[in-house]
Amino acid sequence: MAAPTAEAPTGASVARAFAAHFPDAAAPRLAFAPGRVNLIGDHVDYCGGTVLPMPIEQGTWVAAAANESGMLRAVSVDREPALAFPLDRPPRFPDGHWGRFLHGALAVLEADGAAPTGADVLVTGNIPCGGLSSSASLSVALLLALDGRGDAGLTGLPLARAAQRIEHEHVGVACGLMDQAAVVLGEAGAALEFHCADATASAVPIPEEEIAILVADSGVPRTLAGSAYNERRDALTRAAELAGIEFTRLATSLQPGTAFGDAELERLARHVTGEQARVEAACAAARAGDWPRFGRLLDASHASLRDDYAVSCPALDRLAEAFRRQPGCFGARLTGAGFGGAVVAAVRPDSVAACLAAVTAGLGADSRGAFRARSRGGARRGE
Ligand code: GLA
Repeated sequence: MAAPTAEAPTGASVARAFAAHFPDAAAPRLAFAPGRVNLIGDHVDYCGGTVLPMPIEQGTWVAAAANESGMLRAVSVDREPALAFPLDRPPRFPDGHWGRFLHGALAVLEADGAAPTGADVLVTGNIPCGGLSSSASLSVALLLALDGRGDAGLTGLPLARAAQRIEHEHVGVACGLMDQAAVVLGEAGAALEFHCADATASAVPIPEEEIAILVADSGVPRTLAGSAYNERRDALTRAAELAGIEFTRLATSLQPGTAFGDAELERLARHVTGEQARVEAACAAARAGDWPRFGRLLDASHASLRDDYAVSCPALDRLAEAFRRQPGCFGARLTGAGFGGAVVAAVRPDSVAACLAAVTAGLGADSRGAFRARSRGGARRGE
């Protein structure tokens, strides 16, 4: 992955790279899909909660040209080796391999009657670190660039759901819809209040003159498929059964403090009901411009993810604490699934430089640094 300071690819540079790799191919279709930073609301999307992710300006670019060869040839500027396989006999890629996303995107499009019979594909990106949903970004960009219906193809929620199917059916992560929704539906200058139970969304402005969103990489790698992610989800499925609530409505329907006769289940459930209340309060605080309150909710979310949901780690705890020690920091928390990855902080705009300098000085050698995250909108074709 590229360092946060690396020059961003552009449509023109991606098209040039494509032509250099595939000199005989037709002009490619280009697509861009951002990464996302989740401001608050983690581990509630798969059980019907509300989340507040924000797309970031960094993301994934895909250039793809369809052909009749029956072969898929793909290069990733950031990964080795290049791939080539017959579309009717895809290899079984190992866990976490980017070939799984490629094959998954083609299979999902195929089921929709919109897959090419052959294609040349180039992928590049500049998402700086883990925890920023490079998976959803890659999935959405692949679907947009490979969709045989072009501009008439997948958009909006159906596109987000198609990207989620890639994860469920081909990558092996039973994720919620938060990341794909943020990547597809996110707007410039705003975060997305997304109600997962009924897939409704509204924008929550993040005015750059009032509030800066900073992200720092813990340097601890995380893999979702191999992690406790699916285990946490399974445990909550049990809680929903015991409480007699539909799993996809658990976060909004479970009574806080419900007894399960199982201390671990009660801790997990406490995170879910508490996080749902915090997200609702954070959306209200953001709309009222009450950033100190917004920040306190971020801090409380981190504590709950650490103590009740048990998805933090010492590096994430230290990093969140390092942000909180800085004057001008309203609050900080781990963002995304946890188990490593990144921390997000809300700080006063006039404290950005000092905050970044102080936090960066304490980062370990494996960290890819810290940066200010900005929303420039969701995924688009032809960029
Ligand atoms: C990952 C998943 C999301 C969500 C978060 C945790 O990013 O892809 O669906 O569950 O973890 O909030």
